[in-house]
Amino acid sequence: AIHPVVLCGGSGTRLWPRSRAVKPKPFLPLVGDSTLFEATLRRSGHEGGFAAPVVVTGTAHLDHVEAQLGDAPGAQIIVEPCARNTAAAIALAALRLPDDAIMLVCPSDHHIADTDAYRAAAAKASALAAEGWLVSFGIEAKTPETGFGYLQRGEAIGDLGFRTARFVEKPELARAQEFVASGEYAWNGGIFAFRVGTFLEELRAHRPAIAAAAEAAVAAGRADGHCFHPGAAEFAAIDSESVDYAVMENTRRAALVPADMGWSDIGSWDALHAALPQNDAGNAVRGPAELVDCRGVLVDSDGPRVSVIGLEDVIVVVDGGEVLVTSRAGAQKVGKLHGAANQ
Ligand code: GDD
Ligand code: MG
Repeated sequence: AIHPVVLCGGSGTRLWPRSRAVKPKPFLPLVGDSTLFEATLRRSGHEGGFAAPVVVTGTAHLDHVEAQLGDAPGAQIIVEPCARNTAAAIALAALRLPDDAIMLVCPSDHHIADTDAYRAAAAKASALAAEGWLVSFGIEAKTPETGFGYLQRGEAIGDLGFRTARFVEKPELARAQEFVASGEYAWNGGIFAFRVGTFLEELRAHRPAIAAAAEAAVAAGRADGHCFHPGAAEFAAIDSESVDYAVMENTRRAALVPADMGWSDIGSWDALHAALPQNDAGNAVRGPAELVDCRGVLVDSDGPRVSVIGLEDVIVVVDGGEVLVTSRAGAQKVGKLHGAANQ
């Protein structure tokens, strides 16, 4: 069976005021009734044939994780004493699993509309991972988004996927534009399938210090029920680097599986608007609202009624006494607001 490794870290300021440091994006019901974290667990759950999950999260989020994990027999929670980015988080999970296990790294900050397509891609990715590939899910690159990694499609590997000729994490806009125009690149969806032993070999080859520090943190760690606490001092000593830069850009064993599954990273209010059900005028509403002569408007209110007349492409969010009003284009700048930065 495939072992889902669910990552929950980060604070997520771009969906302020809904997403706050105390309750960040993965733990919010942003699309539908379940939170992104709950939806991630369900997508890779028992009924899909997956093994019990390993959740990697920070001390600050442990309460949310335990509450939303519910009764998940066999689940393991690795509790990070501080944030050291995804190379460290994935290394810890790998070191807690058998070398020949297949791990499926699942970020918990995505929306995926088509679960069947996701599971079909996961099956292909795992088959490639079992052959020794470090596999990314490739998402059709529609716009030159600079917040993503880019995967250049190389030669086909049977009918399972492709070699990744080049992995470029978060390129400058001009390069991202070239990549999209070339038609050869996919976005990295942030979901990875690895054989544990292969991942650790590549981490040791390209980032020996991170691998050694993660091993020391696990060796100094202690289990407490379903939680595992790595040694705090050893863990704090790990370099903070994402797996994309640390391993995926450097490995020669990178592959990709194309995944057309209604993927969105919900990286802004604009992206959330696109993922929500809309009426014929393109309006999406959560909470009490009255919209008159509006088009492309998103209203999300946790209580007060919001009434809007005659506006287009506007986003209004009311949450916990804070009000955000922005154009859809301006939604990219929400993280820079004082309110979002000093929550
Ligand atoms: N446990 C833990 N600890 N989880 C973490 C940490 C950490 O220190 N840092 C980040 N995460 C989690 C986040 O919560 C998220 O679920 C996932 O790991 C990815 O981290 P992000 O910080 O959201 O990465 P990103 O969005 O900038 O970039 C990644 O995802 C893109 C797709 O959304 C990269 O993989 C890109 O290449 C990719 O395109
Ligand atoms: Mg992200």
